[in-house]
Amino acid sequence: MAQHDLTKTARAMVAKGKGILAADESFGTIEKRFKSINIASTEEQRRAYREMLFTTGDFGDYISGVIMFDETIRHKTAQGMPFVDLLRKANVIPGIKVDSGAKDLAGYPGEKITEGLDGLRERVAEYYRLGARFAKWRAVITIGDAMPTRFCIDANAHALARYAALCQEAGIVPIVEPEVLMDGGHSGERCEEVTTTTLESVFFHLHAHRVSLEGMVLKPNMVIPGKKAAQQWSPRQIAEATVRCFMRTVPAAVPGIVFLSGGQTPAEATANLDAMNKMGTHPWELSYSYGRALQDEALKAWLGKPENVAAGQKMLAHRGHLVSAARYGKYNPKMESAA
Ligand code: 13P
Repeated sequence: MAQHDLTKTARAMVAKGKGILAADESFGTIEKRFKSINIASTEEQRRAYREMLFTTGDFGDYISGVIMFDETIRHKTAQGMPFVDLLRKANVIPGIKVDSGAKDLAGYPGEKITEGLDGLRERVAEYYRLGARFAKWRAVITIGDAMPTRFCIDANAHALARYAALCQEAGIVPIVEPEVLMDGGHSGERCEEVTTTTLESVFFHLHAHRVSLEGMVLKPNMVIPGKKAAQQWSPRQIAEATVRCFMRTVPAAVPGIVFLSGGQTPAEATANLDAMNKMGTHPWELSYSYGRALQDEALKAWLGKPENVAAGQKMLAHRGHLVSAARYGKYNPKMESAA
């Protein structure tokens, strides 16, 4: 059903100069983020924080869609306007995280499996009624000694494909997110090997589940050395390895690839995306779906205080314009200091 709409929405999510804001932190994650600025995670602070982000003046210039959490998609502004309506007015597509988190994979110590398939058909139908037009499901792949196992990769790819098929049945574009973590000291080559195997498995299972590639968006990690690796890479090396890996694994029918930032700093995530788009045109749009890289500077300027809302919005707008420039390969690190 709704095949045309899925394709249209997927394309709109990766429109030129735009990308996605991941603001779908679960209760545990937002508590961690708020702790970093010494504030408690109350429902009102969470609402106020998201209102600050979503009411940033020129938001719709660089944001095509926002991923929300279950609590957030039901929230309203202080003036009483539902967030969903606020976003729509700014020409931003409402989205929703539908997985219920990565849990320990029984029998495979150190590895994770993402839960949330039970009752998903009913939940996506409800989110559609609430206004969501795309969804997100994140699978986590860990690199370590004898990890990841083939079983962990395939189990996660299978769940991602079941989720994606259920979303498309409901007229919702699935963001398929297999994240190979950058934690650890592994090399960039090792990340490329694991990312390649993971994406091969993901697309095998997407085909098996009859998922329309035109009506989905892929959200992967960049191919990048582990945070603790002795040998770090330049943006150009990261860009070349990442594009090479995707050319081998991601069908051209997929309209766009939106990266997660995964622990890169805002400037790194911007420079790395920029380097890929500087390489020229690719079969898919290469864009962003950053959480931390879009929010961190705004969060630090806000500090939970109403009088800092304008300062927080200024930081989000600044980063938004930089990542938007990176969509065209027109970013320069010198632009960082303009804030
Ligand atoms: P980060 O950009 O902070 O990695 O978050 C993106 C996201 O949505 C992870 O699921």
